[in-house]
Amino acid sequence: MTDIAFEIVDVRAMEILDSRGQPTLEVQVTLDGGSRGRAGVPSGASTGEKEAHELRDEDPGRYGGRGVLKAAEAVNGEIADALAGVDVRRQRAVDDILIQLDGTDSKSRLGANAVLGASLAAAYAAAAASRTPLYRYLGGVMANVLPVPLMNVLNGGQHAANNIEVQEFMIVPAAADSFAEALRWGAEIYAALGGELSAGGYSSSVGDEGGYAPNLHSEEEALQFLCSAIRKAGLQPGRQVWLALDVAANDLRCGGAYRLRQRDVSAGELVNTYETWCGDYPIISIEDGLAEDDWSGWKLLTDRLGGRVQLVGDDLFVTSAELLRRGQREGAANAILIKPNQIGTVSETLHTMSTAARLNYSACVSHRSGETSDTFISDLAVAARCGQIKSGAPCRTDRVVKYNRLLRIEKSLDSAAEFAGLQAFMLE
Ligand code: PGA
Ligand code: ZN
Repeated sequence: MTDIAFEIVDVRAMEILDSRGQPTLEVQVTLDGGSRGRAGVPSGASTGEKEAHELRDEDPGRYGGRGVLKAAEAVNGEIADALAGVDVRRQRAVDDILIQLDGTDSKSRLGANAVLGASLAAAYAAAAASRTPLYRYLGGVMANVLPVPLMNVLNGGQHAANNIEVQEFMIVPAAADSFAEALRWGAEIYAALGGELSAGGYSSSVGDEGGYAPNLHSEEEALQFLCSAIRKAGLQPGRQVWLALDVAANDLRCGGAYRLRQRDVSAGELVNTYETWCGDYPIISIEDGLAEDDWSGWKLLTDRLGGRVQLVGDDLFVTSAELLRRGQREGAANAILIKPNQIGTVSETLHTMSTAARLNYSACVSHRSGETSDTFISDLAVAARCGQIKSGAPCRTDRVVKYNRLLRIEKSLDSAAEFAGLQAFMLE
C-alpha cells in the first residue's frame, strides 16, 4: 500500500566542501508528507581500483577540475525524475532504480557520488517520516550494539605530508565497558601522544584524519609512541587497548614487489615484517597489508597471521559482496572494511555486511579521508551490529561528529545498549 506521506516528491543536490576543502555533494530528498532527509557524500584519497567511480567535472577552471556540478545536475534531473512517486521505505527499489538508471558497473555515468547521495538521503528521509532514529529504521529492534572505535592517531601515507609510509596507526580501546568509556580512553591517549611527541621534539601538526603527522625514523618508532601514550594515559597496551594498522599497501606497490623505507621487499618479506611487529606490539588488526592485485600474498598473510590477527580487506574488497566471496574462496583476509561510497548504495552496503556475517568475516564501518559532517556510518555500524568503526582521531569535527553521534545513540538506548568489545574481532 502506498502511503502518500512516504512518496518522494523531490531530490535536490548542491555542491558543498568536504574536510579537505574539495567539492562534494549534499543531497536532499523531500517526501510528499513534508519529511526530508539530507546526506553529505565522502571521498577517498587512497582509493581501490575497483571502487564505484565518483563523477568530477574535469573543468580546470573550477576547483582544479574537481567540481561536482555535473553530478549535482544528474541528481536534480535524471535521478529526481526517476525517483518521483517512489515509496521511500522501499530502499531496495530506490537503489535498484538508481543502479539501472546509471547502467554501468562502476556507477560512472551518473557518478557514484550522485547515486550514493540520493540513496543515503532517501534512507534519512524514510527514517524521519517513520519518526524512528536512523539506526533503528535500518536495523530494527536488534540495533543496539555500539562499535569499538579504531582511532587513527598517527597519519602517514597519502593522508599526511610526512615520511611515514604506513597510512594509519590506530588505537583500539576494546576492553572499555561502553562506547563512551572507549572514546574517553581514546581521547586521553591522543592527548598523551601529543604531549610525548612535543616532548620528543616532534611536530604535533595533524593529517587528514586528525592524527598527528610527525616525521619519524621508523614504523617501530610509531608503534613505540603509541604504547607509551597508552601507558601515560594510565592504561595497559594489550590488556585494555590494542593497536591497529592500515598499511594501504597499494601505495607501496612497486612492480611485482613493495617499496618500504627505500627498500624493495617481496610480499613474503612484508608478511615477515608484520609477523615481527605483531610479536613485539599488541596489534589486533592489519588492514590492506598487501596490494589489491596480490591475491597470493594475501593468502600467505592470512595463513600466517589470520588465526590471531584481524586482516582487513579495504582496497581488496571495496565493499563488494562478490569480491568478498572471492576472498573467502581463496582464503584471503578474515575481515572487510565497509565504505558505502565504494559500492554506491545503502542496499548494496547492507547486502555486503550481511554476506560478511554469513561468511564469518568481521566487518568495520569506515569514514573516508575526505569527509563532511554526515554521520550515516555511525547509525550504520549500530544498525548492522558489526561492532567496529573507524572515523579517525578524536580531533577535527568531521571525525568527531561520528563519535558524538554514537555517544548520543548509546545514551538514548540506555540500558539496552551493548558495547561490542573484543568479541567484535572474532579472534580465538
Ligand atoms: P581513503 O583512506 O578514504 O583515503 O581511501 C581510508 C582508508 O584507506 O581506509
Ligand atoms: Zn584502508
